[in-house]
Amino acid sequence: MKMLAAPATVLALWAASAQAAPNDEIAKRLEPVGQVCVQGKECKGMEVANAAGGAGGAKKPADVIAKHCNACHGTGLLNAPKIGDAAAWGERSKKEGGLDGLLAKAISGINAMPPKGTCADCSDDDLKGAIKEMSGL
Ligand code: HEC
Repeated sequence: MKMLAAPATVLALWAASAQAAPNDEIAKRLEPVGQVCVQGKECKGMEVANAAGGAGGAKKPADVIAKHCNACHGTGLLNAPKIGDAAAWGERSKKEGGLDGLLAKAISGINAMPPKGTCADCSDDDLKGAIKEMSGL
């Protein structure tokens, strides 16, 4: 019974995050409002925020993982390679021809792994950062 329950949970998670996408879009559009700088004044806070997130609004790997990847990779759900399991990631990396091969699979999706790991607005670099962080590669 437990074995059957797991995939159902994942599907529910997956469906939930798919439905959450439009809300994410709205949240993303609203986000800058909280960070708006007074016109003509320096925006010290923004620089710090950008520096912390990397250049050009790149996402922080830890944030991407927490929001999108951790649901499966945190516990190894459905055989997802676990965060920090260097052996599991190393084996996959060897099979796919390195980090870029893993990235390609993360973008397209593979078996139970949804395309882009449900992070639809992640850039390739965002995904790569998350994979690096999870795998230690
Ligand atoms: C719904 C669950 C789920 C989520 C969310 C998820 N993954 Fe996965 N992921 C999996 C599963 C399951 C596998 C193993 C697939 C297989 O080999 O059958 C996997 C495998 C991978 C692999 C290895 C692919 C390969 O070629 O072996 C990478 C890289 C990866 N995930 C990256 C990510 C990233 C980055 C995120 C977050 C942006 C993410 N995943 C989110 C389930 C998930």
